[in-house]
Amino acid sequence: MTRQKTILTGLRVNNELTLGNFLGALLPMVRLANAHSADMHINIFVPDLHSIISEIDGELQQNLVTSLKYYLAAGLKINQNIHFYRQSRVPAHSELCWILNCIATMGELNRMTQYKDKSEGRESVNVGIFDYPVLMAADILLYDAEFVPVGEDQFQHLELTRRLGEKFNKRFGEIFVLPAEPRDQAKFMEVDGGIRIRDLQNPEKKMSKSSAAPNSRIMMNDAPEVAIKKIMSATTDSLAKIQFDMFNQPGISNLLQIEALVNDLPLQEVISTWAGENHYGDLKQKVATSVSTFLTDFQSKLAEIKDETIFELLENGEEYANSIANRKLTEVQQVFHLR
Ligand code: TYM
Repeated sequence: MTRQKTILTGLRVNNELTLGNFLGALLPMVRLANAHSADMHINIFVPDLHSIISEIDGELQQNLVTSLKYYLAAGLKINQNIHFYRQSRVPAHSELCWILNCIATMGELNRMTQYKDKSEGRESVNVGIFDYPVLMAADILLYDAEFVPVGEDQFQHLELTRRLGEKFNKRFGEIFVLPAEPRDQAKFMEVDGGIRIRDLQNPEKKMSKSSAAPNSRIMMNDAPEVAIKKIMSATTDSLAKIQFDMFNQPGISNLLQIEALVNDLPLQEVISTWAGENHYGDLKQKVATSVSTFLTDFQSKLAEIKDETIFELLENGEEYANSIANRKLTEVQQVFHLR
């Protein structure tokens, strides 16, 4: 009998989500889930232990429920193959993380650019920030997940996951199924090279909830008029040419990318529509309207979803996740003579 494959993703919650999280990871995951949930497992979890690497507010539980509602509001269709769970309720994640810590090297983790970015200029950095990618590897390897739809900023962590899994398998036998290479993940998601939505004020950087300037990011709970203002004040360039060129025109390219994703249009189609145009104001106006319509629609769908629906899904999902994860953990413990 062939094994039923698994698609898995996680979305950290500290506070509200950005449009970048939504378009880069959540929406592609929903599309994949709806296309494949008849014959694949779809694991959607909240990495709440990852959340506590940085300061959290008292709203973690409510934010966590809201973030799972986002999948439903984005159109996820529920069936018995969709599994929602919290990382902290499946202790095998932390356990496998420790075991993988004994395989990973300081050098491998030191190379992680996210760690470098997050620790830069800080006098003291917690070990959780350093070890973050190993816990992520455990999240993935426990379930033999082949497809892990994430934004382009997480590709390096996926590579590390493959590397740790491979090292483990070489030493102890074929215990883990490795996730596909990021290139193939992107192909599976049908996005060229992964998605990276840019910071509206500084389009060299990714849109991030940790960026200082509030008008650099669109939050999924922004009032539509606020989002319009943010788009209208986005940084562009002085080339007066509307074309997709992330290297020389990251601001304009970002707007084209957002326009395509919120309208569910192929990027190429949007690029062709604007080819030969040079009024940046017109493009901003169009994107602002698209984003505002998109947010209005999304927020009204979100308001209809009840907390109980999520708790019910979590109850079933956590039972499933514990059964799969514990089975894999036992295999791993056996090779270390821990059992
Ligand atoms: P997190 O919570 O920082 O981000 C969640 C997802 O959003 C994507 N993303 C973006 N995509 C495009 N443009 C952007 N500007 C942008 N900003 C964020 C991220 O790539 C991610 O897919 N380490 C993960 C959470 C995690 C995880 C896992 C994911 C923990 N364990 C196992 C998959 C599998 C993270 O911090 O994502």
